[in-house]
Amino acid sequence: MTDQAPAAYDGPQRVLSGVQPSGALHLGNYLGALKKFVDLQSRMDCFLFVADLHAITVWQEPDKLAAQTREIAAAYIASGLDPDRAAIFPQSAVRAHVDLAWIFNCVARLGWLDRMTQVKEKSGKLKERATVGLYTYPVLQAADILVYKATHVPVGEDQKQHLELTRDIAQKFNNDFNAPGFFPLPEPLIEGPGARVMSLRDGQAKMSKSDPSDYSRINLLDDKDTIDQKVRKARTDPEPLPDNLEALKARSEADNLVGVYGAMAGLTKLEVLERFAGQGFGQFKPALSELLVETMAPIGDEMRRLIGDPAELDRNLAKGAERASAIAEPVVDEARRKVGFWRPTI
Ligand code: TRP
Repeated sequence: MTDQAPAAYDGPQRVLSGVQPSGALHLGNYLGALKKFVDLQSRMDCFLFVADLHAITVWQEPDKLAAQTREIAAAYIASGLDPDRAAIFPQSAVRAHVDLAWIFNCVARLGWLDRMTQVKEKSGKLKERATVGLYTYPVLQAADILVYKATHVPVGEDQKQHLELTRDIAQKFNNDFNAPGFFPLPEPLIEGPGARVMSLRDGQAKMSKSDPSDYSRINLLDDKDTIDQKVRKARTDPEPLPDNLEALKARSEADNLVGVYGAMAGLTKLEVLERFAGQGFGQFKPALSELLVETMAPIGDEMRRLIGDPAELDRNLAKGAERASAIAEPVVDEARRKVGFWRPTI
């Protein structure tokens, strides 16, 4: 016996993330996820999927699921992801995710899953009626990541716990099957400043697709006039913008709008304040609206074009699935071998 640390993973660095096809995407998804992916695609190998396997952990209308999947793919591409660079694909099109998820279901422990806070929130009060899939959702997520031996996972704060579970599963698999360094221990890339976008009606609540007020969010498919209306009606206060972050922090709605401006313009909040300190929202809102319309309206237009041409979209998705499978299948084959499954001698 030696007390050396187990061999560390030394394979290539890869980025992986997924977005669920359950409801319209908004500015929060754009700044928190899509824009991040776009920034990463030129630096690292990216695998970006539409999480349709995860979506069916709660009921989805079969007639709508494929259209919603295409809509997310269209949002990826319209936001600037290049399907020749990043692999963009529906999760269900790469069967290796499910293969590995079953093996991981037999590695992860009930006690680990019992601690998953997002599953608890999603199953709500009627836990007995929640699907078994919802319970093992974080295990499938671990398989999504490790089937590509991904090292970096851009996600929101709410997914941190799932990344911890992914590392626990990777470590336990490597241990149990005597395969040090086989799976990497992936790291989350958590959203930077300005990327956590709050509701336009309430600076304390996250911008969300489930908020009953459509005025609380800017949807990727909103047209110019709608974007402008929503910015003008956004809740604010009567004070002019301050010249320091301390004073801004106490005003959650103002803080959010300054953060959005900064994230869109590539400026820090302080740089935005340097530009607008002393001005009221009568001046700031039109500037913000102009900036949002400039970036978001063309994305919406391109999404509509792509959704209107499903053949082009499907060609890209099929190509993405093929490239993803070429990486994932050998990893699953190797994992199957380590587990000791039968394979033909001939
Ligand atoms: N659970 C993630 C979410 O709700 C979506 C997701 C599924 C994901 N599989 C993933 C994110 C793998 C990152 C990596 O946002």
